[in-house]
Amino acid sequence: MSAASRIITFVPPRHPAAIDLAGKDRARDFALPLLDGQQRPLRDLRISVTDRCNLRCTYCMPREVFDQDYSFLPRGDLLTFEEIERIAQVFVRLGVQKIRLTGGEPLLRRGIEQLIERLSRMQTATGEPLQIALTTNGVLLARKARALRDAGLSRVTVSLDGLSDATFRRMSGSDVDVHTILDGIAAAQSAGLAPVKVNMVVKRGANEHEIVPMAEYFRSSGVVLRFIEYMDVGTSNGWRMDEVVPAREILDRIAVHHPLQQLEPSQLGEVAERWRYADGGGEIGVIASVTQAFCHECSRARISTDGKLYTCLFAGDGLDLRSPLRAGASDRGLSGLVADRWEQRNDRYSQQRHLISVRNRDKVEMSYIGG
Ligand code: GTP
Ligand code: 5AD
Ligand code: SF4
Ligand code: SF4
Repeated sequence: MSAASRIITFVPPRHPAAIDLAGKDRARDFALPLLDGQQRPLRDLRISVTDRCNLRCTYCMPREVFDQDYSFLPRGDLLTFEEIERIAQVFVRLGVQKIRLTGGEPLLRRGIEQLIERLSRMQTATGEPLQIALTTNGVLLARKARALRDAGLSRVTVSLDGLSDATFRRMSGSDVDVHTILDGIAAAQSAGLAPVKVNMVVKRGANEHEIVPMAEYFRSSGVVLRFIEYMDVGTSNGWRMDEVVPAREILDRIAVHHPLQQLEPSQLGEVAERWRYADGGGEIGVIASVTQAFCHECSRARISTDGKLYTCLFAGDGLDLRSPLRAGASDRGLSGLVADRWEQRNDRYSQQRHLISVRNRDKVEMSYIGG
């Protein structure tokens, strides 16, 4: 079969831009923004560059499941940097303004700086520089922060679930010490990857006692600390509702020590509710995906390590973009596939979690789809 005839088999017949192979680009044929079934635009793309990690957080990759017998993806299944760049370009032309590199642990992907360099040359559909952010566990950050900045990374978010070695090691399923991560955060700040954000997943009975110490530590440091409600992503973490510490409770615990004032969202579809210390000690955030779902504004698409498009963090299946890509699909063909999928999108998992039928569906693991 010739490359050209193969492309046509991958193009969904419904989409006019996909049928009209002699036509112009999808982004130029149709007025932006591209909207899904709930009128939500596509703005934010998260790309998982590896499904591996050097930590084993209990809420994400518990050691009992992700042990030495676990089958991570073989190398040939991973998208190459060239393939990631092509897919990213397609999304950017459809309206994406921010790309976040995730994993697993993205700093484990060899040569990640080269990927950042390629992505940082892109411009958004409206002509602004593309924002490139990265979420890391911080273990390798101290030695990589400068090179990441030089490659064109805009911002970094570091996961840290406590300040005492005992809590951190229990949460991260590792024997790494907290200083390694704090050094990584400091290196990111001095490299100018600002503002550095720190994500703390709060789990009842496990690290809730670290809420106030973490708030005290990062107050007035320039770091934006965000507290995340423990979520039922994937099927490995044994999530229970009674282990979720609601965002309101987190804010109340901090406000006892330092009064807080709510801030306006800085952009549409922001996951974190923003708060400032009334005395000027800086900003914190809460990500209340369980108790206050934010699906109504969700503008995020995710590309898994092996090149599938997922339109929700809690999705069970994705649209394979790697096969058409490797079979020689044109940008226009890929764009048609993505646009079609986005227009069909109706995901609202966090708003529907209370429905047993929704909750019991198969869900992919977060380390594969990207946080
Ligand atoms: P910036 O605003 O660019 O800093 O990024 P962000 O606020 O999207 O932050 P980040 O990517 O660090 O996301 C923080 C956390 O929020 C993730 O690790 C997830 O736990 C959660 N999160 C992010 N996106 C979603 C989403 O679409 N749905 C749900 N339910 N949770 C999300
Ligand atoms: N609940 C909430 N946040 C999670 N993350 C991973 N698993 C979960 C979960 N079950 C977040 C971590 C990390 C990012 C990669 O994803 O905070 O910052
Ligand atoms: Fe690794 Fe991040 Fe998952 Fe922890 S949350 S296991 S650091 S990918
Ligand atoms: Fe978006 Fe799905 Fe998260 Fe809702 S649950 S905010 S639709 S990723």
